[in-house]
Amino acid sequence: MWQRAVVPVAKTPAVMQDYANTPTPEVVMPSLAKGRTIVNWRHADWAPYPALNADAYTWHPIRAMGDGAGFYLMRVAPGGASEPHRHEALEGIVILEGELVDSDGTVFGEGDCIAYQPGSAHHTASPKGCSMLVWTNGAITAADADDAPADLAKSRACANWHNADFSLYPSLPANGDPIYWNDVACQNSDTGEGFYIVKFPPGAASALHEHMGNEEFTILKGELVDPDGSVYRSGDCVSLEPGTKHFSHSPNGCVTVACISGPLRTIHSRKKKAA
Ligand SMILES: [Fe+2]
Ligand SMILES: [Fe+2]
Repeated sequence: MWQRAVVPVAKTPAVMQDYANTPTPEVVMPSLAKGRTIVNWRHADWAPYPALNADAYTWHPIRAMGDGAGFYLMRVAPGGASEPHRHEALEGIVILEGELVDSDGTVFGEGDCIAYQPGSAHHTASPKGCSMLVWTNGAITAADADDAPADLAKSRACANWHNADFSLYPSLPANGDPIYWNDVACQNSDTGEGFYIVKFPPGAASALHEHMGNEEFTILKGELVDPDGSVYRSGDCVSLEPGTKHFSHSPNGCVTVACISGPLRTIHSRKKKAA
């Protein structure tokens, strides 16, 4: 199965060296290297999806937990349609290409980042075909067509990253660089859990932090650099294991969609060295 090789570098990359208090590689590297998976959706190995309509649905599992839970890529062939189903946990979807039609007739297109609240039910179709990213940490179970409500929009939120409104991320540490977000479906703004769009201005870096659960994200535009020198580029879908400690830097700015499955804890923020 296609997966981008990660080649850690031996020292802190040059882009990080203008920061004081840069954590030592011994703090960050072991957790970053452990269990990280990077798949670029444009180069995915599409295999039959083991549920739903297997003729129309293919997928590339990145973190598959069974029963539909996990972080994975799905592709729907033109004319494909899902069975009615229910999401036991918050579900986040990013339309990467093509169109997806929801059971209330709403048409979602490229760039739409959609969240469904736990307990919501619907069915979808893709007359023209589509590729999408899916993230959820609960089972997806069968439902009746009658379970899909006409007022589905009440349990659904959507923002398109191309034209989303961004505001300052609410839980930035003191002295942290400004980082912006569009809160599609944050479940807890104190812990950072949920599904939302994040924008790094050019030169911005996040504070050193630790993830209690999986951190997963897709680079929608630009590049993001982790302290081991790994550069995540447009289309990369990244899964980091619980226990990861890192901070990320974007030399030229980037837009990502973040899927945060557990609390994140800021370890310390950094100050840029005086010029
Ligand atoms: Fe669904
Ligand atoms: Fe992180």
